[in-house]
Amino acid sequence: MQTINDTAELRQVIQRYKQAGKTIAFVPTMGNLHEGHLSLVDKAKEQSDIVVASIFVNPMQFGENEDLDAYPRTLEADSIGLVEHGCDILFSPSAKEVYPNGTQAETRVDVPSLVEHHCGESRPGHFIGVATVVTKLFNMVQPDTAIFGEKDFQQLAVIRKMTLDLCMPIRIIGVPISREPSGLARSSRNGYLSTEEKTTAARIYQTLLQCKKSLENGNKDFERLSKKAIESLESLGFKKDYFNIANPNTLENATLNDNEYVILVAAWLGSTRLIDNIGVKL
Ligand code: PAJ
Repeated sequence: MQTINDTAELRQVIQRYKQAGKTIAFVPTMGNLHEGHLSLVDKAKEQSDIVVASIFVNPMQFGENEDLDAYPRTLEADSIGLVEHGCDILFSPSAKEVYPNGTQAETRVDVPSLVEHHCGESRPGHFIGVATVVTKLFNMVQPDTAIFGEKDFQQLAVIRKMTLDLCMPIRIIGVPISREPSGLARSSRNGYLSTEEKTTAARIYQTLLQCKKSLENGNKDFERLSKKAIESLESLGFKKDYFNIANPNTLENATLNDNEYVILVAAWLGSTRLIDNIGVKL
């Protein structure tokens, strides 16, 4: 695996592969890689000749009081995982490389119709940071295909729409959520949890499953279902951010006419914010 920090060098290497007729798949990450991230690399490998992964903790997508400084940086262990999964190029640019003028003076990419609810509501500006950095990374790597996890369901929707709206010639592929045996969705932020908190955190998935079952049993009182789920999470010690039943395409609140849903949840356990989701088809 080649590790590259410099965009000009990355472009040269990729151009050489493209001239040789190779297809490129791209997996953007913020590092601290776990099995969920590596399943994206496996998918990329399946789809293309050459796999590029990026590791960049993107300051633009963190709010003022969020965990940018604390975010785990584990480049050495990440490189080993990427090599084991057959990644060809690791792109690990500096903040200066990505934002030569700082994050304030940059052109921004906004996908306003998809960020009114859910994480967009509780993390204002977050998805502008995500869409902007992913656009930059797409322009740096120029992949044929890019792979994202369904763990960040709203992010995946934002990226799909952005790619379509801005005519980016890149195929977006979503990969199912990778979970611990307990059901807890794998996340770099799980590293902030104590052993005891990890056991509690797994109850998020149980709550999603219960809600899914109620929907499948014909209960369409979305508000009540959300309220019940929030109460149950609060009784376990979570602080609520949101628990929403939405249309998976528009991400708007579910209506009685829908027969497909996504249940999206974000909740705090101590100072750690966890997100998860599950799809439901009737
Ligand atoms: P990060 O949180 O590092 O996640 C990188 C990719 O891994 C995302 O597409 C995310 O959805 C996926 N992922 C994380 N946990 C997963 C799991 N348990 N199962 C399946 N996929 C999982 O998401 C970001 O970074 C950033 O916002 C980024 C897109 C890199 C832009 O900065």
